[in-house]
Amino acid sequence: MAEASSSLAARGGNVRPLHPSPRPRPAGVNGWLLRPLAKPLLFALCLLPFVWLLYGAFTETLGANPAEALIRATGDWTLRFLCLTLAVTPLRHWTGWHALARLRRMLGLFTYFYVLLHLLCFAWLDMGFDVAEIAKDIGKRPFILVGFSAFVLLTPLALTSFNRAVKVLGAARWQALHRLVYAVAGLAILHFFWMRSAKHNYEEVAVYASILAVLLGARVWRWARQRR
Ligand code: HEM
Repeated sequence: MAEASSSLAARGGNVRPLHPSPRPRPAGVNGWLLRPLAKPLLFALCLLPFVWLLYGAFTETLGANPAEALIRATGDWTLRFLCLTLAVTPLRHWTGWHALARLRRMLGLFTYFYVLLHLLCFAWLDMGFDVAEIAKDIGKRPFILVGFSAFVLLTPLALTSFNRAVKVLGAARWQALHRLVYAVAGLAILHFFWMRSAKHNYEEVAVYASILAVLLGARVWRWARQRR
């Protein structure tokens, strides 16, 4: 068979080799990001904060108020993962590491994983799973209402983060839906700002707000340049 195909190729026939050699992997960071190990490694890294918090809870090393520590830490990690997810596209453009795109969905789903933990910790440790109390608190404290709105907007993004959803919705509608992430980012910062305003403690809020402003500003700038 090999002989037959090579003789056909020699005569200019259009024959595909039986065992095509694998496409060479690009060099550098892109090549590394395309390795099969990249995804499991990122998965393990993304789970580390969860494992660390679980360890702290079981060994009772979360400080004097473990419930507050858990609610706050899961809130912080939600915000960090949101920043990481939003950083993928600008980083691809600035560095040429286009293979980063294959890691974006995992980062987005981890954002949702940590907000679910955050909500669970609040509903369980603060509210004892009392649904009426939770609803009352959401209505009474504006910063919780804002956080809850961010969670509600994140939900359809997580549910439609799979390839099949792009096919079902169509690329244009899927993209329009996923622009909700900008509203989520705004609400997340407002939630954090409002919560810290009770103690006039704005330093960390300013850091996260600046990071998100740069990441979202980069997208707007690129979009405006492309329209010119
Ligand atoms: C995308 C959605 C959300 C993000 C990014 C987020 C983020 C945060 C952050 C960064 C903190 C402050 C942590 C710190 O002080 O170090 C926080 C605190 C808090 N969040 Fe969220 N949050 C979100 C959604 C929610 C939801 C859905 C609820 C509940 C319905 C909620 C309830 C709370 C509570 C109770 C606190 C702690 C307040 C305190 O300790 O006094 N958050 N959140």
